[in-house]
Amino acid sequence: MSLQVHLRFPTDFRSVLQALVLLSASTAIVLLYQWQSHVHRKKSNAETVVAVDPVELNSIPGPLEFRESHVFKKGPTTEHWNLLALHRQYGPVVRIGPTHVSVADFDSVNAIYRQATTFLKTDWYDLFTEKGKGVIFNIRNKELHAKRRRIVSHGFSLSSTRVMLPFIRTKALHMVAQLAESSEAQDAVDDENREDDPSELLSRIIIAKDPATGHAMDFQTLCMEARGFILAASDTTANTLTMAVNHISRSQSVWTQLHRELKEAIPSMEALQDSLQDASSYYTQLPFLVACIKETYRLSPAIAKLLPRQVPNRGCSLAGHHVPAGTIVGTSIFVQHRWDEDLWGPSDYADEFHPERWLESSQSSEAEVAKLKKMNSFLTPFSQGTRACLGRHIADMELHVVLATLFRFYQPVHVVTPVEEMKEQGFFISGPRGGKCLIQFKSVELQ
Ligand code: HEM
Repeated sequence: MSLQVHLRFPTDFRSVLQALVLLSASTAIVLLYQWQSHVHRKKSNAETVVAVDPVELNSIPGPLEFRESHVFKKGPTTEHWNLLALHRQYGPVVRIGPTHVSVADFDSVNAIYRQATTFLKTDWYDLFTEKGKGVIFNIRNKELHAKRRRIVSHGFSLSSTRVMLPFIRTKALHMVAQLAESSEAQDAVDDENREDDPSELLSRIIIAKDPATGHAMDFQTLCMEARGFILAASDTTANTLTMAVNHISRSQSVWTQLHRELKEAIPSMEALQDSLQDASSYYTQLPFLVACIKETYRLSPAIAKLLPRQVPNRGCSLAGHHVPAGTIVGTSIFVQHRWDEDLWGPSDYADEFHPERWLESSQSSEAEVAKLKKMNSFLTPFSQGTRACLGRHIADMELHVVLATLFRFYQPVHVVTPVEEMKEQGFFISGPRGGKCLIQFKSVELQ
């Protein structure tokens, strides 16, 4: 049987927010949105912009041509690959434009994005404003952003999103049933469908109030935020899922190890309903699945573009270089997850899918345990600090549930799509270059 994974947009608004268990990618909607927003771009979202003297950046390593032009102009959809090559050549800090600097080392990345950061988002984010109005994703003013985020954050908390587990499981079962031809599998899905929908994310956002003022969002703001969530949620999750399925399916030994673990947790199709009922069991009972997902986050983060931030008034020091106020700095998560050889190994090992790097063995030395701890804290596919992804718990749970369900009952026999077409690419949200991943699976239910 040949499965071509594809994107389906649910029809009603509530399920759009909820149904994110879809494979493959389409960037057309996002691009259209970006174009429309650009037409209505307004300056009101802007912070004070400090003029930078480019000469002050001359001591920062990088190709001379980028003192005058800009690395981004060399292919906006593959910028992260260019940045990776530059960091491998020049080190942790690279000048990538007249007033632009890219970083890739642990301390610099943390200094820019950590919790109490004063490095604000730059006017690049105004590309995404609609009629001059921002949403949580692109509001640059620190106080406005904190206020808006505070209103909805409860609905996205770990405990709130875990309530969505039954809904996500139902969607995962639908997917497996679509692959299966047996009526038995279809019955299992129909049984699950009798459950009430417990996810209610949209309802929670509608009634959410600012704890400080007691006010809810007005209707227009609510609609804009909801649309923002759809854009932020769909292709990111879909592409990550596609990449995970692709990475796992390309290695027979990875699938075998994963399947062994899943078979123990879910002994049969009949046992599926009663297995892994609690969200935390996916994390505690399935360490190899967790490692496969971490390795996908590392290699193929859905947002690979450098996330630009403006250096605050006092300037800063990054990897021993003084960087003046107003300079645009940032990291590409994609580069951050591959560059440092001490953490990720030499480039050929860093660029390959090796889930076992995330598993601590009983023989691990103290140094190895410390390294693993650092790797975990540097693995930030959802970014970090006050601008970290709001939907990370939802996305993470979806990945665990869908991959566990798929690979428990299906074995990949052939990945049709060439490796080259699966290379990460995208203007803002990154996904497979070819836009899809074609894989042949066979059912393993009876084994
Ligand atoms: C695997 C899936 C996902 C990945 C890899 C991802 C990644 C990210 C990253 C890296 C950022 C920071 C962007 C920046 O600084 O410019 C971000 C922000 C955001 N994401 Fe996600 N995301 C995912 C899924 C979701 C989902 C499911 C939702 C909502 C249901 C969501 C909502 C948001 C929002 C609202 C922001 C803006 C947060 C803020 O600025 O305060 N994301 N995401």
